[in-house]
Amino acid sequence: MNILLVNGSPRAERSGTLRIAESFVEGISRVCECKVDTVALYKKNILPCTGCFSCWSRTPGECVIKDDMEDIRKSVLGADVIIESFPLYFFGMPSLMKQFTDRMLPLTKAYGYEVSPVSAKSFHEFRYESLLKKKLVVVSSCGYTETDKMYGALISQLDLICGEGNYTHIFCPQGELLHVNELKRKLDEYFARVGIAGEIFAREGFLDNETINSLKTPLLTPKAFEMLARSHWVK
Ligand SMILES: Cc1cc2nc3c(=O)[nH]c(=O)nc-3n(C[C@H](O)[C@H](O)[C@H](O)COP(=O)(O)O)c2cc1C
Repeated sequence: MNILLVNGSPRAERSGTLRIAESFVEGISRVCECKVDTVALYKKNILPCTGCFSCWSRTPGECVIKDDMEDIRKSVLGADVIIESFPLYFFGMPSLMKQFTDRMLPLTKAYGYEVSPVSAKSFHEFRYESLLKKKLVVVSSCGYTETDKMYGALISQLDLICGEGNYTHIFCPQGELLHVNELKRKLDEYFARVGIAGEIFAREGFLDNETINSLKTPLLTPKAFEMLARSHWVK
């Protein structure tokens, strides 16, 4: 299995979300042989999409901007599983990740102003059949306790991009706790559960609701989290 792990956290290697994504990959690798390529977006030269639509018209499938996205798109096409790892910023993906996503436009076909497709299909039809067979896993952590409320906008966006539910997700609340050494025992237990989720994904190709829900269960009660936040971060 070829896995492409995209780290879209501006915190780079210090990203808490990345620790979750890596535990997930460890779980997969316990079940099947895999080759893992990691793309650290903050190290790459990725310019913003300029909206020229050349990739849909004059040079179909080709972007006129010559930067690191050329190689990254090749890595996406060569992967069986793409794991996107990023924190939630203002209820969506951070700008680094959005820039990467915008520059995927060459992998989609021109939008012909047709009526909306059925919800199970991507709004933008993929240019290559092989993209339909790939699996996308979105791993994200957020600061707050209520993932359902926090991730509503991102889920709507992912549903439109991939087709409703055509991706796997792990959303972790209270993300700042991932850096608190005093919670090591709880964190090790959480990462172990993420690893088991990786094993399930490797075997089944998706995660069941019970696993998804267990990974979005906060480590601390809202009250305990609030007290810790007040003593550590809120000035
Ligand atoms: C600019 C910015 C915006 C954020 N927006 C949200 C948000 O909308 N909702 C939320 O729950 N957390 C938000 N957070 C908190 C991060 O999602 C959280 O700290 C995350 O766990 C960081 O993950 P990382 O270590 O992988 O970068 C925000 C943080 C920053 C810096």
